[in-house]
Amino acid sequence: MPKNPAEKKPVVLKPPSVHPKNKLNALTGNEWLFFTKSVLRTSYPHVLGHKLRREQGGNKPPQLMQHIIEFFTKPGQSVLDPFAGVGGTLLGASLCGRKATGIEINPRWIDIYRRVCEQEGIEGQETLVGDCLAVLPELAAAGRTFDFIATDPPYSIALEKTMCDGVYDIQHRKTDFDRYSDDAADFRNLATFAEFYDAIERAFALTYPLLHEGGYLAVIIRDSYQGGRYIPATYHIAERIERGGYILKGMKVWYATGARVRPYGYPNVYVPNIVHQNIAIFRKGEPAKHAKQREKKAGNQEGV
Ligand SMILES: C[S@@+](CC[C@H](N)C(=O)[O-])C[C@H]1O[C@@H](n2cnc3c(N)ncnc32)[C@H](O)[C@@H]1O
Repeated sequence: MPKNPAEKKPVVLKPPSVHPKNKLNALTGNEWLFFTKSVLRTSYPHVLGHKLRREQGGNKPPQLMQHIIEFFTKPGQSVLDPFAGVGGTLLGASLCGRKATGIEINPRWIDIYRRVCEQEGIEGQETLVGDCLAVLPELAAAGRTFDFIATDPPYSIALEKTMCDGVYDIQHRKTDFDRYSDDAADFRNLATFAEFYDAIERAFALTYPLLHEGGYLAVIIRDSYQGGRYIPATYHIAERIERGGYILKGMKVWYATGARVRPYGYPNVYVPNIVHQNIAIFRKGEPAKHAKQREKKAGNQEGV
């Protein structure tokens, strides 16, 4: 006679737990490992005031920012975003019970963030309107520090749309609203790439003293294609950020499924459809053991 399956002992799974020595976050082992994969594929629902936030063409999904923040902080810790836009990072922090401070040069975006908070019944995070190059030193002078920095700066200066003669930019515009400020200090309004990368370097160097020793910085960057040439903005920006003292620790490719594909170059030449963004992860300070290993290696090489 086959046994009655109902009589079988149920399998009891051990509840996932947080490692007692985990000083970084409140994730279980599986959640930790999942995050360390170098590719992230998502399709987040358009929620949390997306209709308002989409005015800012570079807005990031709060759920993506929550995912990143949850890895690099514990509940209650603090996050800084020096290029806050309409508040993807600020909302992401609220979703997981972290404090956040956002700096944004365009008051229009902060106004939208506040309206989203009101609409969604979310308590607003701290927002500071101004040029981050001026506001970051003020935060340092006030003795402020943060556990994590997460941001996506402008990834280039304002460029002419050259792909398919700019036709897709016009056809797919969802609003007549001018998406960018006239402020000369807005990084997008800088005249040359040289000025832009210098400004990026200055801004991230200014964040360095604000981050706790051993803390992380995550920067979302999109490469671009302009005038028939691929522009590896991630590479250039990462190099400038390292000059400020940070160490590049990894790169996650974020692919938002459903990104539009357009017939650039078809049927003549190869032109990429850039459907991903990079999340570059940096750390402040170097664990003593790595520094020692490096010194030892340098010493051995000198003897060769
Ligand atoms: C890619 S958007 C950030 C979008 C944001 N993550 C969001 O979810 O809305 C970059 C932002 O940097 C802001 N920005 C540009 N130059 C700045 C500066 N000098 N100081 C502060 N913010 C600046 C722009 O106004 C823009 O909103």
